[in-house]
Amino acid sequence: MGYQEAYDKLEKYGQLHVLKYFEDLSGYEKEELIAQIENTDFEVLKQCGNKGELNPRGKITPIDVMQLPEINAKRDEYTKIGLEAIKEGKVGAVLLAGGMGTRLGSDAPKGVYNIGLTKDVFIFQRLVENLMDVVRQADAWIPLYVMTSDKNHETTTSFFKEKEYFGYNPDYVTFFMQDMAPASDYNGKVYMEEKYKMSTSPNGNGGWFLSMMKWGVVDKIKAAGVEWLNVFAVDNVLQRIADPCFVGATIATNSAVGAKVVKKNAPDEKVGAMCLEDGRPSIVEYYEMTEELMNATDAKGEPAYNFGVILNYLFREKDLEEIAARKLPLHIVEKKIPYLDENGMPVKPESPNGYKFEQLVLDMIHELDSCLPYEVVRNYEFAPIKNKTGVDSVESARELCKENGIEL
Ligand code: UTP
Repeated sequence: MGYQEAYDKLEKYGQLHVLKYFEDLSGYEKEELIAQIENTDFEVLKQCGNKGELNPRGKITPIDVMQLPEINAKRDEYTKIGLEAIKEGKVGAVLLAGGMGTRLGSDAPKGVYNIGLTKDVFIFQRLVENLMDVVRQADAWIPLYVMTSDKNHETTTSFFKEKEYFGYNPDYVTFFMQDMAPASDYNGKVYMEEKYKMSTSPNGNGGWFLSMMKWGVVDKIKAAGVEWLNVFAVDNVLQRIADPCFVGATIATNSAVGAKVVKKNAPDEKVGAMCLEDGRPSIVEYYEMTEELMNATDAKGEPAYNFGVILNYLFREKDLEEIAARKLPLHIVEKKIPYLDENGMPVKPESPNGYKFEQLVLDMIHELDSCLPYEVVRNYEFAPIKNKTGVDSVESARELCKENGIEL
């Protein structure tokens, strides 16, 4: 792309201010900025104006959840099926680690955060240790795909190298990067982070499969015969990954996707709840839970939307290819965005000053025909680290690790 094309693209989206400092830039910086303009999807910025009407919901009704008594009755059968699939190399794990972890307040990637008290216990290390349990049980390495972003790729990959992959086999670890999206003020004008660089933010965890395609990872997966991908978040330090029983249950029930869920600790807990939406599997976000939904009961008289997702899903790879081209809903989230003020001076805001634009993995569920919500024991598998203290924090996760006999 040349200067004129970049100019035309910006003009089309009302973003010409991006070129304000162009004349002052070095040759290299000019090239950088033009390349960024070429690679940026400004279309999302147009959505600022209709934020409220972005994602209208269909009719929400309860979904059947496979609960613990049923799982326990079939545990051996499902575990056998799952272990076979893992041994045959049909199961891969995808670690979503492209987020900014702003609530935790560290500039480093969340996975390098040390939750240890008497020794080093990094978040990445906890996840690898959990995966190693299954590697030992199946006596087979499980391919691990790690999604990073432009903001943390270097630090993440060097950290894994420096720590020798925490004992994992590096031949089975692949890194790929997600895309970035422009970050804007409340009027949809993209902020400048540097005179030669627009402010950007990772574009949400919903683009992971498209990014895998873009990086050629999907081709590798297919060549290797991987049929199932267990996608999981970086911040739940207790979750079981490539859990054989979960894998077996999803395969045995011929589901397009399995979703690990926990019983909610209160009707208004801040987790998305599994449901049907217009008859298809879906997730209703906690802020969408009306009084009516919170009080609703199912046929057995139990709370109807009582199971929350923990961002641990097992997707069937071929179904992902089918839905890959579909557009997921866009989520617009308020955020603190570093920017240059009108005098070109950098500002690090203390409170939100604009929007980031994201697509979310949970919206992929609604695109699929069938989903198995699969209950796991909450205190055994759910210790998310979102904050430093309080709810879903380093403190609460440490308590839960202790409860599960994990030395910190
Ligand atoms: P969160 O929703 O907790 O977001 O991500 P975050 O960016 O990590 O943290 P905050 O909101 O800034 O405090 C849930 C999971 O999705 C991943 C995160 O790394 C985490 O594993 N994620 C999120 C991505 O991989 N990419 C994104 O763009 C956003």
